[in-house]
Amino acid sequence: MRTVFLLTALAATGCLNQLIPPHASPSNPNVPVTIDLPSIPDDVFFALKAPADAHAELCANDGSHPMFPNDADQITKAFCQDLVPGGSMPQPTGLADLLQLLGLDFKDPNGGNGTGGNPAFAVLGHSSALTARNVSALTPTAFVFTPPPTDGSKPSGYVFLAYDPGEQFVEVAAHDPVADAVNLYLVLFDKACKSAPGGCAWNDLLTPNLITGWSNVRIYESTTSLNDTVADCRQCHAPKDSGPTMLRMQENVAPFTHWFSNATSGGKSLLKDFHAAHGTAEDYVPIPAALMDKSDPAQFAQLVGQAGFATQPNAFDSAIIESQLAAVGSSVTWQAIYDHAVAGQFIAPPYHDVKVTDTAKLTNMTQIYQQWMGGKADLPDIRDVFLDEALRDLSFAPKAGLDGRGLLTQMCQQCHNANLDPTISRDKFLVDQLDQMTRAEKDVAITRLDPNEQTFKRMPPLLFHTITQAERDLMIAELQQ
Ligand code: HEC
Ligand code: HEC
Repeated sequence: MRTVFLLTALAATGCLNQLIPPHASPSNPNVPVTIDLPSIPDDVFFALKAPADAHAELCANDGSHPMFPNDADQITKAFCQDLVPGGSMPQPTGLADLLQLLGLDFKDPNGGNGTGGNPAFAVLGHSSALTARNVSALTPTAFVFTPPPTDGSKPSGYVFLAYDPGEQFVEVAAHDPVADAVNLYLVLFDKACKSAPGGCAWNDLLTPNLITGWSNVRIYESTTSLNDTVADCRQCHAPKDSGPTMLRMQENVAPFTHWFSNATSGGKSLLKDFHAAHGTAEDYVPIPAALMDKSDPAQFAQLVGQAGFATQPNAFDSAIIESQLAAVGSSVTWQAIYDHAVAGQFIAPPYHDVKVTDTAKLTNMTQIYQQWMGGKADLPDIRDVFLDEALRDLSFAPKAGLDGRGLLTQMCQQCHNANLDPTISRDKFLVDQLDQMTRAEKDVAITRLDPNEQTFKRMPPLLFHTITQAERDLMIAELQQ
């Protein structure tokens, strides 16, 4: 009950220092003594251009597409129609409009997955992507995408849309058929509550209310100043900056541990958790209610594979990891991929077990969501259903027992390494070149670790990581050397 009371009192935006009360005994070294909520600072997108300039940038014709915009990727094609005689720029007012513009609308809400004109779709109960700290079986990520060609050939012009509750954006990957490249886009929109007194409430952000009443839809590609924000897609989708952008799916072999699926026992238990809260009649936008149980990670893996990205960096082999866990209660295979991420070589791998949730927290938030569905007006932040003991293995919190340098490596290197674009400002702080770093830059980093920092300057970004004061002190001591 304690958790519920505290979280109900919090507004959806504002102060970054909102704590989750630790659940288990604080003497358990696997539970961080303090846990920050994954809040996003109000100015997180400080670097982005104004809407009109963003549109001009999206629709700039570099001459490589003879029929521009009609032979460009689907986002550019749809949103740059004002370049076409008689055309205009679309103004979607919700997710349904956007799906239609991308050719991903559901033609038959009682039909199939990727058949009869419907797009393909798959739902994920634990993510290692941008909004990982928001994603669970209660608030899963929904992916809607172009069905893979049935003859196994390489797809062209395909589109993926990723939807998470909680934020006023969706993510899109769109294949450019001329350049044969995957373009990544952050699609921002405004709900009316954004400018209302008191801002948006959880009821606006964590429910189907999020997908309607949009205005000011604006599109930012990952080749622009988006790279200067924490939503830089390239840190994960182009881990070697010199290489091409890739599609990501870490769990790309059956049984697809954290994906909703009626074909796997893990997938079934995640669907059960989902339905306990959402029932069977709520459309989990963008997926019609009647289709939810047809979530199909195999189709997702197929499209990613046919598109040329079957080999994933530091992949999570669900079959081996699940069999090791069943046999001996732990997995050496998982431990190896986790250790690579701790060493700063790769992004965080998914968690070893199917469930990332704490049963008591999940039951509680499930009841609260049910009450909201039953007509109760307000909703608290229902996202914190994570098992506190799992936060370190989830890579949301650092591995226990690391020294200052080890903490900087695990908590910072993913966004601050020498493989990244050298023209962006955060390249001044390269954790993999700490020994060559200037005193002045280390001093900047110490100020960035200040827990009173309330702006985009707060490091590490809470959307990704939570650290304790002791861990912060160890990093600062290392930077003082
Ligand atoms: C922290 C790493 C990370 C960041 C940052 C990130 N992604 Fe991803 N993305 C992933 C992973 C991992 C997946 C696979 C599904 C998952 O784990 O949620 C994914 C999946 C996707 C998908 C589904 C298609 C695919 O590649 O599997 C889209 C679309 C997508 N991301 C778009 C974006 C966009 C746009 C951005 C930048 C605004 C972005 N992502 C930033 C890690 C990331
Ligand atoms: C998810 C990506 C991400 C992670 C993780 C991250 N940063 Fe950053 N960092 C950024 C981005 C984006 C910028 C550029 C925008 C800005 O100045 O805040 C930045 C800027 C900085 C800068 C300013 C560089 C300069 O001189 O302009 C410092 C210092 C810094 N980060 C330190 C850290 C430290 C220390 C950690 C780990 C404790 C960390 N960052 C973790 C994304 C990240």
